[in-house]
Order: sequence, then structure tokens, then C-alpha cells
Amino acid sequence: MKSLCIASAKGGVGKTTVSLNLAYAMATRGTRVLLADLDPQGAVAHSLGRRELEPGLAGFLAQELPLEELLLKTRLDGLSLLPMGDLAVEDTPALASMLSDGAPLGRLLREAADVADLLLIDTPCGFGGITRGALSVSDHVLLPVQAEPLSLRTLDQTLEAIAGLRGQGLAVELLGVVITMLQQRDPDSLAVAEELWSRMPPELVLDTTIPRDKAFLRASGAGVPLGLLGRRPPPVHVVFDRLAQELEARLGLDRKEEDDAPIPLLA
Ligand SMILES: Nc1ncnc2c1ncn2[C@@H]1O[C@H](COP(=O)(O)OP(=O)(O)OP(=O)(O)O)[C@@H](O)[C@H]1O
Ligand SMILES: [Mg+2]
Repeated sequence: MKSLCIASAKGGVGKTTVSLNLAYAMATRGTRVLLADLDPQGAVAHSLGRRELEPGLAGFLAQELPLEELLLKTRLDGLSLLPMGDLAVEDTPALASMLSDGAPLGRLLREAADVADLLLIDTPCGFGGITRGALSVSDHVLLPVQAEPLSLRTLDQTLEAIAGLRGQGLAVELLGVVITMLQQRDPDSLAVAEELWSRMPPELVLDTTIPRDKAFLRASGAGVPLGLLGRRPPPVHVVFDRLAQELEARLGLDRKEEDDAPIPLLA
């Protein structure tokens, strides 16, 4: 099993949106994905409009419940979710300090390997204890950068934080930067993307960019990934197929040859 953490120094850049839609796209493409929410705000459950508070990750850590009992099943066999669960605000600092060395997440990694090919971890913004813990059990990290100046300005901070953690012995590798909320017709938004393309080594910036699109607001309102926003989902949902394909290649999760064979049309 591979593990991929989605992180950024700045908040609101699209981490949870990318996590959820990428997890869905990868699962539809045949990769078994477990999306774990490490944001104390319960971002993944909020994105799905889920109100019930189950034990989730908080219960997994505090009560040592078996992972399989805590997973939320989805309409896709290959996609399961571990929400943050029932965590009181005042318990967040304790959770952060418990997670900061990553040891409690080692059990998550071991048990996740029974149900998933990829553990995808959504984190809160910044590089506090929770994100450090997530990075310590991740093979790779993906950095969403919103196509706006402030997000670009904080990228160095993000890269320094990751370099610092690697300097402390963490093995996590930078899988790449994905540009989010790009407004193709807005010169200021495009300028940010262009600066990123010119500043970063080309292999570190993913070819797929995520456009800013109203459909995200609708999907968020409906509490679903874009691909489930109706029988004919909005065209923008295909960017997550492209992103999934790009990341599968980088993660070594490409389709096996038999999956790549043509599928006969005629019955
Ligand atoms: N491509 C997009 N187009 C339009 N709106 C988007 C897009 N991506 C994300 N959003 C919206 O931007 C807001 C922030 O997105 P999201 O919650 O995914 O960011 P985040 O990085 O997870 O934030 P946090 O740091 O608080 O965890 C949300 O309201 C989301 O619906
Ligand atoms: Mg989030």
C-alpha cells in the first residue's frame, strides 16, 4: 500500500476538495482508496454533509477500535472513508501532540493495508503536530497551490517545512504541486500559474490543473464529489480523472496490463 498526504501551509487552497474528488476518481479507476481525514474540523464529513458523529479516527486512536469497524462504506467498493469523528474542540491539542511523532498512525497504516492500495490523508492547514504525524507515515506529499498570489507566496514556507522534516529523518517525498482554482481568463490567476511553472522544476508541477468552477459549490452544497453531481456530471469532473492518472503513474499504481486491454463494445 502507498500513502499520500495532501498538505499546505496556507488554508483554503483546496486540500479537502482535491482529496475527496481524487479519492473518488481513483476508486472509479480501480484503485482501492481509503481517505482518512486528519483535520480536527472534520473536513471530509462536512464536505459530504454528514451530521452523525461516529467514532472515526478519534475513536480509532483513543479507544483503539479496529479500523474496519470505523470505516464509512461508499457506493464504490474500492472507496472507504475514515472521518475525523467525534473530537471535542478542547481535545484537539492533545490529539495534535499525540500524533506529532506519527507512532499512533503506524497502526492505521498497517490496518489500512488490508483494505486499500492507497491511503490518502487530508490534513489541516499548516505544519503543526497533526500534519507532521501524517507526513511521518506518508510515502509522498501532494501540495495544492491556489492560483492566487497569497497562496504562491506561502509555497516556499511549505517547501521549507517539508525539507526541514526530511532533514529530521522523515522519508516523505514531494510528489508534486497541483495548481487549484485556476481562472484561465483572469490574467492575475494565470500569472501565478506562470510564475509557478517558471520557478519550480518542471517535473514537480503536475500537468493537470484544477480550474475554478461553480460546479464545486454545487457539489459542496449537495455533499458529493463532482462525479456524483447527477447522472451527467459537470464537464469539470474529468480533471480528477486526469489528475488520478498522472498521480497513479508517479505512485506506481498504474493499471496492470490486463486492465489496459480494449473492452469489446458488442455483446
Ligand atoms: N476548483 C475550485 N473551484 C471553485 N471552488 C473551489 C475549488 N476548490 C475548492 N473550492 C472551494 O474553496 C473552498 C476551500 O476549499 P477546501 O475546503 O477544499 O480547502 P482546504 O485547503 O481543504 O481548506 P482548509 O485549509 O480549511 O482545510 C471551499 O469552499 C471549496 O468548495
Ligand atoms: Mg480542508
